[in-house]
Amino acid sequence: MAKDFDTMEDSNASPNPSIHGVSVPARRLWLQGGLGLAVGGLFAPLAGCATGVQSGPRLGFKPIAASVADAVTVPEGYVTQVLAPWGEPIGVAGAAMPAWREDASASAEDQALQMGMHHDGMHFYALDGNRRGLLVMNHEYTDDGLLHTDGIRTWTAEKVRKAQAAHGVSVIEIALADGRWQLVRPSPFARRFTATTPFSVGGPAAGHAMMRTAADPDGRTVLGTFNNCASGKTPWGTYLSGEENFRFYFAGGDRLTDHQRRWGMTKTAFFRWPEHDERFDAARHPNEFNRFGWVVEIDPMDPKSTPIKRTALGRAAHEGAWVATTRDGRAVVYSGEDARFEYIYKFVSRDRIASAGNGMTAAQANRTLLDHGTLCVARFDADGTGRWLPLVHGQGPLTAANGFADQGEVVIKARQASDALGGTKMDRPEWLAIDQASGTVYCTLTNNSARGVADNPAVDAANPRANNVMGQVIRWKEDGDFDGSTMRWNHLLLAGDPANARPEARGNVKGDIFACPDGLMLDARGVLWIQTDAAAIEMGKGELVNVGNNQMLACDPATGEVRRFLTGPVNCELTGATMTPDGRTLFVNIQHPGETPSERSDSAEPSKYSTWPTGGRPRSGTVVIRRADGGLIGT
Ligand code: FEO
Ligand code: CA
Ligand code: CA
Repeated sequence: MAKDFDTMEDSNASPNPSIHGVSVPARRLWLQGGLGLAVGGLFAPLAGCATGVQSGPRLGFKPIAASVADAVTVPEGYVTQVLAPWGEPIGVAGAAMPAWREDASASAEDQALQMGMHHDGMHFYALDGNRRGLLVMNHEYTDDGLLHTDGIRTWTAEKVRKAQAAHGVSVIEIALADGRWQLVRPSPFARRFTATTPFSVGGPAAGHAMMRTAADPDGRTVLGTFNNCASGKTPWGTYLSGEENFRFYFAGGDRLTDHQRRWGMTKTAFFRWPEHDERFDAARHPNEFNRFGWVVEIDPMDPKSTPIKRTALGRAAHEGAWVATTRDGRAVVYSGEDARFEYIYKFVSRDRIASAGNGMTAAQANRTLLDHGTLCVARFDADGTGRWLPLVHGQGPLTAANGFADQGEVVIKARQASDALGGTKMDRPEWLAIDQASGTVYCTLTNNSARGVADNPAVDAANPRANNVMGQVIRWKEDGDFDGSTMRWNHLLLAGDPANARPEARGNVKGDIFACPDGLMLDARGVLWIQTDAAAIEMGKGELVNVGNNQMLACDPATGEVRRFLTGPVNCELTGATMTPDGRTLFVNIQHPGETPSERSDSAEPSKYSTWPTGGRPRSGTVVIRRADGGLIGT
């Protein structure tokens, strides 16, 4: 979700220090001008890539120009097709396949059997090498002006049900035939998870008093997942999805508690669900709010499996979650929360990742792996080192006297715990990517126009620009293994446009300019793919005037070179990249083409800004990209 600069969540009023605000001049120089230094020092040996052996240049395609066209554009020699746009029936076995209706008259029941709205994080799970597999993807949110025939001119229980059915996650089966990918329908794997699907709860918040509601007195079964943004694929074959801006669905009324305020709750809900579903009326059901903001785990290969909320990973406006493996086989899950001045986390599992066997798949053998371990918040210090601060009940300030009765309350109140520990307040952490071989972790910090403005936190070493409208990519290496308690960090790049007058908006990109990095994917050759999400209200003007529509770029982390690979249609964001194992098909999600600056379309003019991809009402969709000669993507 882009969120314009005025409405982005900014709930961290903690006095949690500006110890990071002190940045030595030499370091400031290195941060702001030193891309060459940044790639030439500590991080130079990054040639060790994720899995592949790379000789010669990583980037071989001819970069494309910035674009404002209502189209997907890719380099010469590449071909595209659109797959599974919003409203396409997914082919649930034994169920109906309600067709797309251009006038948005599909019912809530139809929508629950179709692709949701606003495609986001996505991964490919191979069933037959590189020719057949599952695509699993999030549907982050809805544009209710587009979702219903008359938009929000009326607001009914049926519209709430349809919106709830358009959220969540889709599992679809796809196959390659004659150079084109098609849905396999019906498929025993096809499945929708929506805002009403039962999820079980694992980890220290399961059954906690703050998780219990009238409808679920045990606090162990939550209906639904929503505002699912980025995603991660685990080494044991499951899908991790982050519940991001869950605060937009709850109405708190006039008397908000400190806890509700710290989590950004407002008097009324942007998505208006509380008007017809009392579960989201936090004045009546205050604990329902605590049951969102989790990383959820889904086993797409087992259509009968129950999805699980993994509370040990901490509650946050989770962008997503990504897994590294320690040398002794434990899982380390990195995540961040996309809100101004919030935090980056990592979780180290207590147990080792189990192998498949004894009649169980790897996913089944690791059914409780993410329920036990240690959660930490990141502190990035001005000298280029960093420390992981444990969110462990009873340690340091995380005691009952300070409002943390037990570990369940620590994870439910992870923001308050991180405030108390002194985590670094970041510029909206979005996706992460992990180079397992070199031990490097990358994270996009998409923007933060409130940084260093008025009474807000000042710039610091990791977030070095005031009124940061451009964003940056930070990276770190743990000292020792991925479970290390300390690390060393620097910036891969600061996004921007050298043509800007304001130094903070120029950046240091070596190659094609861009703004607002969001999605990340490190491919098997070691190419770091960067996707952008500048808000519609900001695009095409001011300091973003030359950037064009949101786009996808390829970066060689060893040299810092950036080449623009794809430009998206008007007012879309790029997100959710994944490849087949052979690196010859790339799937990319186009989210919210034609989004209005208000993020809610006028139902009288559904195609005002875009008609992508089918010439009418704009629809989020997956773009499949291949080389005409069948070669490796990006070479
Ligand atoms: Fe949903 Fe942070 O983008
Ligand atoms: Ca974003
Ligand atoms: Ca995002």
